[in-house]
Formats: sequence, structure tokens, C-alpha cells
Amino acid sequence: MRVLVTGSCGLIGSEAVHYYASRKNEVWGIDNNMRRYFFGPGGDTGSMRNILSASFRNYTHKEIDIRDRASVLEVFRAVNPHFIIHTAAQPSHDWAAKEPFTDFDVNACGTLNLLEGLRQFCPNSVFVFLSTNKVYGDAPNHLPLEEMEMRYEYDVKMRGRGIDENLSVDGCLHSIFGASKLAADIMVQEYGRYFGLKTAAFRGGCLTGSRHAGVELHGFVSYLVECAVRGNRYSIFGYKGKQVRDQIDSSDVIQALELFRQNPRTGEYYNLGGCYENSASVLELIAKLKERFGLTVLSTYVDQARKGDHICYYSDMSKFKKHYPEFRIQKSLDTILEEMVISAQEKLTKKAA
Ligand SMILES: NC(=O)c1ccc[n+]([C@@H]2O[C@H](COP(=O)([O-])OP(=O)(O)OC[C@H]3O[C@@H](n4cnc5c(N)ncnc54)[C@H](O)[C@@H]3O)[C@@H](O)[C@H]2O)c1
Repeated sequence: MRVLVTGSCGLIGSEAVHYYASRKNEVWGIDNNMRRYFFGPGGDTGSMRNILSASFRNYTHKEIDIRDRASVLEVFRAVNPHFIIHTAAQPSHDWAAKEPFTDFDVNACGTLNLLEGLRQFCPNSVFVFLSTNKVYGDAPNHLPLEEMEMRYEYDVKMRGRGIDENLSVDGCLHSIFGASKLAADIMVQEYGRYFGLKTAAFRGGCLTGSRHAGVELHGFVSYLVECAVRGNRYSIFGYKGKQVRDQIDSSDVIQALELFRQNPRTGEYYNLGGCYENSASVLELIAKLKERFGLTVLSTYVDQARKGDHICYYSDMSKFKKHYPEFRIQKSLDTILEEMVISAQEKLTKKAA
């Protein structure tokens, strides 16, 4: 099978390349290391490009910008992929407000370029897009919530279930990032409904894993673990540190995408996350790092939440599980943390050597 992965050097993209290339597929990756432009040296994914090229002879890298329409269409023409995994993005809602043109051009227009490649050159192929729970804007903050000692929680009616796809995307504050991703999400659905293509948008909660190049503005668990291991200070922004997120490991993300590929549908949209079982607040994560790994997080509290930031968000994946009953989260939050701590400690030791 020929697989095309955009954002192939990022967290989810590189996991996809590993998964498909190690199963003897021909894999092409598109990534121009724009994460370095967004987040500076801490976000640099250039070394991943070298690792992938050195590890897999069946991996071909294309240093292309997904905003470059002609080059994107040429890749589709030349490669004619069977499966397209689109993960390239400007992924931070804080960063988006700095350069709204860049954010929209990458997230919305870049996605349209890829969808056109699909329609013009390989309309029978399967296309999956990594969308975000920010498509719901701050609507989750208007649900009835309860403040507990260490976290916010939904009221008893929703507790343990979380947010499903029926939450409205209208009438809420999305952030510039949420709006550009929603535009892309709708386009992905539309190419399914209007043109009958096999497309799906996966609305991620916190996607994470030990390969994450976490930075303050994106990838918070990975960044928190790095701070804990290196003894750097971590800033908690608002909500008393009781804001809740669900964490899903990148390998479980690929599990979901692969199930969709095997049995695709048209114009779908699914919430994708670690759900209630893998949810935790910032305070709970800091406590876990202390209890399980003896790591102390030096934190500073900033009494100003990020604009539009969710107070409590965990995914309800009932819709996806109904369509794909085989899906199971394989990595618990504890395992995710353990792998991240080991990886951060190894990096630190290498640096010191
Ligand atoms: N990580 C999360 O917590 C999270 C949560 C929800 C949704 N998502 C979505 O999942 C997807 C993957 O996230 P991730 O964490 O792997 O992101 P990432 O930043 O680790 O990887 C994205 C990759 O895309 C590349 N890229 C960016 N702009 C590009 C461009 N114009 N042309 C070519 N390449 C470009 C970057 O260099 C980077 O290597 C993104 O679409 C993101 O919005 C992520």
C-alpha cells in the first residue's frame, strides 16, 4: 500500500510513518519543519526527518509546504497514494492569534489543497484528518461543572461520559486556531458528502506520547514532564490548575485511523481522546509525577486562563466505538507518563554525556 503522511516528522505523523513503514508499505512524508518556525528550537522536528530516512528505506521525504498548491498536487499525481493521513498543522491556539493569515493558510487552505489532490488523482483512496476538540470552542465551559479538590468535573449526568459530537460548534469562542481547524474539519466532511469521498475528521483531545517535542504553547503533558525532569519552572495558567484534559497516546491514535482505513465511511467526524479513564487535571498530573516517580514540579501560578481554554474536557468516543467496536485504548495514563519520564531522562543523560 502507498501511504502519504503530512506532518510526517511531528508527533502523530512520525508515529504513522513508523507504523506503516515497518509493515512494509511504501510511505511518503511531507514536512517542512514549520514547527520550528512556530515554536523555536524546542519545536524543531528536523532530527525526526533524519531518523525516519535512516530507519526506513521505504520512506521518502518531501520537504514541501502544504500551502504550496502546485507542489501538493504534483505529489498526489506522482505518488497516487491509497491512504492519506493529514496531520500537518499550526497546532497552537495561542500562536494562531500572532499570525492569523499563516494559521489559516496552513490549517484551512493547506487541507483544501490536499483534499483537491485526493479528488483529482485518487478519489477511491481513504483520507483522514487530525482535527481538534477546539472545533467546539469554549462551549464545554458552559456545561454545568462542579469544582472538586483537585479538578473540575461535569455534573453527575455527564460525569464519566464526556463530550460527544452532538455539542454545537456555533455561538462560542473558538480562538483563531479553533476557527481555522473547524474550516478544515467542515471541508473534510464536505468532500465526503458532496463528492462521495472516503474522508474523516478526528477531533483530538490531547494527543501525546514519548516522541512529542512538547513546548509551552503546545503539548502540555510532554512539556510538564520535561520541566519536572530538568528542574525547570512550569507555569500554570488559570482555573487554579484544576483544568482537566484527556490524554491519548499516539499509538492509539494510529489504531483508530487504521480501523477507519480498513472499513472507511464517507464524510465522517469523530471525537478522539483518552476519555474519562485517561483524564487528569494539571494538579493531579503534578501529584502523580511526585507519587509515582519522585519528581517535583516547580510551578508558578498565573491567575489568567488562556483565552477560550477548556475548564474540563474529556472525549466521549461512543460514536467511533459503535462504528468500530474493536477499538480499545491500549495505553493508560500511567503508562504514557512512565514512557515520557524515561524518554525525558534519557534525553537529559545524552545531553550531559
Ligand atoms: N497534539 C495534540 O495535543 C493535538 C490535539 C488535538 C489535535 N491535534 C492535531 O493533530 C495534528 C497532529 O498534531 P501533532 O501534535 O502531531 O503536531 P506536531 O506539531 O507535532 O506535527 C505537525 C508537523 O507538521 C509540520 N508542518 C506544519 N506546518 C506545515 C506546513 N505548512 N507544511 C508542511 N508541514 C508542516 C510541522 O513541522 C510538524 O512536524 C495537528 O493537525 C493538530 O492540530 C493535536
